[in-house]
Amino acid sequence: MEVVICATPDEVARVAAAKVARVLRDAGPRAVLGVATGSSPLALYAELAALAASGRLALGEVSAFALDEYVGLPYEHPESYHSVIDRTVTRPLGLDPARVHVPNGMAADIAAAASDYEAAIKTAGGVDVQILGVGSNGHIGFNEPTSSLASRTRIKTLTARTREDNARFFPTLDDVPRHCLTQGLGTIMDARACVLVAQGEAKADAVAALIEGPITAMVPGSVLQWHPHATIVIDEAAAAGLTLAGYYRETFDNKPHWQAYAR
Ligand code: F6R
Repeated sequence: MEVVICATPDEVARVAAAKVARVLRDAGPRAVLGVATGSSPLALYAELAALAASGRLALGEVSAFALDEYVGLPYEHPESYHSVIDRTVTRPLGLDPARVHVPNGMAADIAAAASDYEAAIKTAGGVDVQILGVGSNGHIGFNEPTSSLASRTRIKTLTARTREDNARFFPTLDDVPRHCLTQGLGTIMDARACVLVAQGEAKADAVAALIEGPITAMVPGSVLQWHPHATIVIDEAAAAGLTLAGYYRETFDNKPHWQAYAR
């Protein structure tokens, strides 16, 4: 696991974008990008959009797969992840909407929608780089604590904590859906690289548990310790609970030139 501690949230976005851009370029024009919703990756998407707009990153043929979607929230609802991905990823990055996929939380047969989503990822050749945030309870995607570390795309019930965390996007807590369709931890682990971003002190406990705690279904993001190419990019506040912060800084500052990427 590569851990990069940045001075500011802006630097988190720049470093993470540099990492994602490098993997996308290496994967070629038809690369497959995994995208998360939520606040954490917004500045990273803005950086990728700027790279694309300046011609330094070609995204026109790139496919994208979202991690998750609420069940029963119509696509046109502004907080459906279909809408959020369209607003924050597809349009700013200039992706071809036909190549952008979000799980179908409105399907009559949710189990079939889940297996169709797995099949679509496979048909696209698998995800080259998966962008992730982390919930304050350690979830990635909507894999809540006690999710199987081998899970695939399926319906999950959101915890009270996640619904409270996401209530800021809805008029009232009661409006936050209770169920979601999410890629599983096994699905996420199939991505060839993962880049997780986290900012702020509210994430410090989850970040410390994910990076330095035991691998446990109680902290679903800790499964990334088992991933061969996981990069965690965090600001100082989110890094506050880390025991080996000095080592992570030293490692990043002394990378061999062929491995280094810009801050
Ligand atoms: C959403 C997702 C979630 C979020 C997490 C953090 O697609 O994958 O795991 O990344 O809930 O959300 P924010 O970034 O809003 O704190």
